Amino acid sequence: MTQHIGTETGYQSGFGNEFATEALPGALPQHRNSPQQVAYGLYAEQISGTAFTAPRSHNRRSWLYRIRPAAMHGSFQEMGNGRIVAGFTGVAPPPNQLRWSPLPMPEAPTDFVDGLVTMAGNGSPESMSGCAIYLYAANRSMTERFFYSADGELLIVPQQGRLELATELGTIELEPQEIAVIPRGIRFQVRLPDGEARGYVCENFGALLRLPDLGPIGSNGLANPRDFLTPVARYEDREGDFELVAKFCGNLWRATIGHSPLDVVAWHGNYAPYKYDLRHFNTIGSISYDHPDPSIFLVLQSPSDTPGVDTLDFVIFPPRWLAGEDTFRPPWFHRNVASEFMGLVHGAYDAKAEGFVPGGASLHNCMSGHGPDAATFEKASNADTSAPSKVANTMAFMFETRNVLCPTAQALGSPQLQGSYQDCWASIRKNFRTTA
Ligand SMILES: [Fe+2]
Repeated sequence: MTQHIGTETGYQSGFGNEFATEALPGALPQHRNSPQQVAYGLYAEQISGTAFTAPRSHNRRSWLYRIRPAAMHGSFQEMGNGRIVAGFTGVAPPPNQLRWSPLPMPEAPTDFVDGLVTMAGNGSPESMSGCAIYLYAANRSMTERFFYSADGELLIVPQQGRLELATELGTIELEPQEIAVIPRGIRFQVRLPDGEARGYVCENFGALLRLPDLGPIGSNGLANPRDFLTPVARYEDREGDFELVAKFCGNLWRATIGHSPLDVVAWHGNYAPYKYDLRHFNTIGSISYDHPDPSIFLVLQSPSDTPGVDTLDFVIFPPRWLAGEDTFRPPWFHRNVASEFMGLVHGAYDAKAEGFVPGGASLHNCMSGHGPDAATFEKASNADTSAPSKVANTMAFMFETRNVLCPTAQALGSPQLQGSYQDCWASIRKNFRTTA
């Protein structure tokens, strides 16, 4: 077995840029994507993430110059899905508000793929619309195993423990309060520098996540493009008895592979993994009264075919100042046509006094009423709003979808499901009186 690491980890800044990177000097062909012969005896291979004819502004593809082409592996065989659920039509979704405590860390050796637990989803990979939402808890690095999803791009939100995402296009080092996106089809390993890791994943079957337009906000604000980081080329020349796991149409398939597929020596293009530090989000809010809809906290969106309606929104609730005078400052009571799956990376969430803890999750589906719990309502209704207050020590997020999120049977039967969640609103007092 031989191993050769081409470069150290490094990043290129920008969102959806045309990047160019090489781990050996002169490996990237000049002015041709597929010359008759590539330097260093490499193979040229294109990976397309959008239709060939997609508008230029949304067109994503990369050219990879690699030791062996991606076609070289054994035949795929079904391997069983573990706790990954292929479809979302088998369970009648309840209109109840749902909340879960964090997944416990596994006791048996469990890598990132084994540690994925499907909680909810909608649409299907076959239709290339919708998403699947997972929790993960893992305690074993992937070493002899490589993974890719043909079903969608993977938005990874670590909550505990760092991740080293070794991908075909380079390595991303990720820690809680950062996110990463691995594009559909890109092969990778997840290594665990801290030994254990836990967090959230949203697999987006639909249009690639992009930065939202800013409208009247102007040319700056929310997530700034320069804060998105894409790895530089890094390859390994490693041979052995390895396994390539594919997620395809909801199911896991395994094939033998005699070499590491992380063998891309150079690449150029705009279809590539990236990471983003949520602490760089430029949070915008009201400086007079009320607060805007939570769309003001939008980091990334997957648009649908209907203008203004996203299939999937990734929204965060970061530390921020609240300045609204004569305003109920926490999130208000509400019901939405959209469906909301929330998680908490760090600290506390300002709409809940207790029960929603880091690593936990909640699901408020279409038109299910929710909002602050009784304790939060009492406190915020009587707070002094003549001066700004800071929501500090927090990082909550939401996967918000256009279509109803159908929880899986294992999520509804999970020992982590909090049967008492609705009690957080039970003690809200009737304050009504017929005099002002
Ligand atoms: Fe909500």
